[in-house]
Amino acid sequence: MIDFVDIIYGLAWGDEGKGKITSAKAKHYDWVCRWNGGPNAGHTVYVNGKKYKTHSVPSGIFAGKKCIIGPGCVINIDKMLEELRMLTMAGFDVNLVKIHPNTHVITEDHIAYDKKHLGHLGTTSQGIAPCYADKMLRKGKRAVEVLEPNWIWDGELNGRVLCEGAQSVWLDIDHGDYPYVTSSTTMPYGACSLGFSPRKVRQLIGVAKIYDTKSGVDPLFPQTLWDDPVLNKIIEEGNEYGSTTGRKRIVNWLNLDKLKKAIILTGCSELIINKCDVLEKIGEYSIIHGNEKVSFASFHEMKNYIIDTLLYSTGGDLYDIAFSGDVEKI
Ligand code: IMP
Ligand code: MG
Repeated sequence: MIDFVDIIYGLAWGDEGKGKITSAKAKHYDWVCRWNGGPNAGHTVYVNGKKYKTHSVPSGIFAGKKCIIGPGCVINIDKMLEELRMLTMAGFDVNLVKIHPNTHVITEDHIAYDKKHLGHLGTTSQGIAPCYADKMLRKGKRAVEVLEPNWIWDGELNGRVLCEGAQSVWLDIDHGDYPYVTSSTTMPYGACSLGFSPRKVRQLIGVAKIYDTKSGVDPLFPQTLWDDPVLNKIIEEGNEYGSTTGRKRIVNWLNLDKLKKAIILTGCSELIINKCDVLEKIGEYSIIHGNEKVSFASFHEMKNYIIDTLLYSTGGDLYDIAFSGDVEKI
């Protein structure tokens, strides 16, 4: 029987540091599961000072937890095996990783289609959209048809379950800024596709970042942002380069209205705001609120403004806000 499910998910456009939070919290759970996305995701996790980059394997692997890749995910088998080899070499037990039989498999054709036809959307060129499209057309290949049986999950979740989101609210296929979105359900309710009732959900742990970034194209992040020297400093200080594509991310000040909307939309109970030390290093503290840029003299002032705005105006689900330091230093 499942005791409870906690869900970690992104409240912005991805790259908020969900992987770091998941690996830090994983020790308290029996299972860590992914419910959406695939090799488009890039999770950077530091364990004992060493940097690991994963794409498909849940970040629970670093804590020796049972890891499930759910039926709402897509996998690139070669890339996943490569990831598993890297983790084995580093001493992690990859026998803990199992894949749901209905997880769909990305083919070379999917990747070729993505590269040829979807570049204008700034996709990660991993074949994500064509793979989900074939799934919907009922002509996709599932993991159970192509993977060795020892990789296939045939058990049931029980005990304490942690779900780890990939991408984020504003990349969600239904709620994001379509068509500048990904092809899966990034919203936390998508986690139920792993096969548990919504009544099992205990905490909704939303992860944000103290400034906004977008990988790839999005009219909400106009090209003029590249001309701003302070925002460029944030790119360098925050190392805002895509971990899957290596692309430079577009940076803007935290849009508090969007964050508030994402919190309300998802019923976020616990909010973690990452990378606060990047602004502290630069010494500039601004946000966007009511379509206006609002600047502060110190991080302390900015933090209080964010707490006052969010805690009492998001509908009552949110009861905790944590401000966290560098993604690389937990
Ligand atoms: P796709 O998921 O490769 O189809 O890309 C669609 C959009 O989602 C593009 O704007 C990508 O940059 C973005 N995207 C997909 N995965 C991630 C991620 O893990 N982090 C940030 N952006 C992502
Ligand atoms: Mg990422």
